[in-house]
Amino acid sequence: MSDKTANEGIRLQKVLSQAGVASRRAAEDLIDQGRVSVDGKVVREQGKRVDPLTAAIHVDGMRVNVREDRVYLALNKPRGVHTTMEDDQGRPCVGDYLRNRAERLFHVGRLDADTEGLLLLTNDGELAHRLMHPSYGVKKTYLAEVPAPVGRDVGKTLRGGVVLEDGPAKVDSFKLVDNFGNRALVEVVIHEGRKHIVRRLLDEVGHPVHSLVRTRIADVALGNQRPGAIRALNRNEVGSLYSAVGL
Ligand code: URA
Repeated sequence: MSDKTANEGIRLQKVLSQAGVASRRAAEDLIDQGRVSVDGKVVREQGKRVDPLTAAIHVDGMRVNVREDRVYLALNKPRGVHTTMEDDQGRPCVGDYLRNRAERLFHVGRLDADTEGLLLLTNDGELAHRLMHPSYGVKKTYLAEVPAPVGRDVGKTLRGGVVLEDGPAKVDSFKLVDNFGNRALVEVVIHEGRKHIVRRLLDEVGHPVHSLVRTRIADVALGNQRPGAIRALNRNEVGSLYSAVGL
């Protein structure tokens, strides 16, 4: 018997094994143990058929991507590269790094041309939309090089909130990471995405940014990825992004 017919879908254990979660036998064990849910309901029966195009499947509470056509990438966007898929003035842009890919990918939010660091790329429109939408409060972490010394009150001021020209803004956290001569390295965590927000916040407290790198989005870290390098997110990283936006 075929594993897929038009209306019946594919057996859950096969979907899980094709998604790389576990071998089919191990997937059956996960189902037996009540660790798998489909569309919010725990499935204990073996052989349940699901449609991988529409089913929301969780293992141990973490969403599993079971769609083979979905792509989730992390680019370390180099400084000087514009966050666009095409640039009509011929400037370097993110699309240059994706020319040999067949999928139609979106960049999740933007980084300034002058900012380096983690930029997510995907063809999962719902996830991209939620990651960008301020109501989901997804945290992004930045490292900024600013003039030193950085006074003790700077973090308190930024956490308490300041008023920018387009309204109030605050950081979730602020940390002095390092001091070297007349420069300091500070870490800022923020969950909103207004244009130039980190630069404007630091400017406002007297620390204009010399250089800015985004190092993390929710639980996905840039790590030691070189500027210009692209990598596929692993299953846990994709699951953590789904969790961050309630999918
Ligand atoms: N905040 C900025 O100021 N620039 C970026 O690129 C991202 C956040």
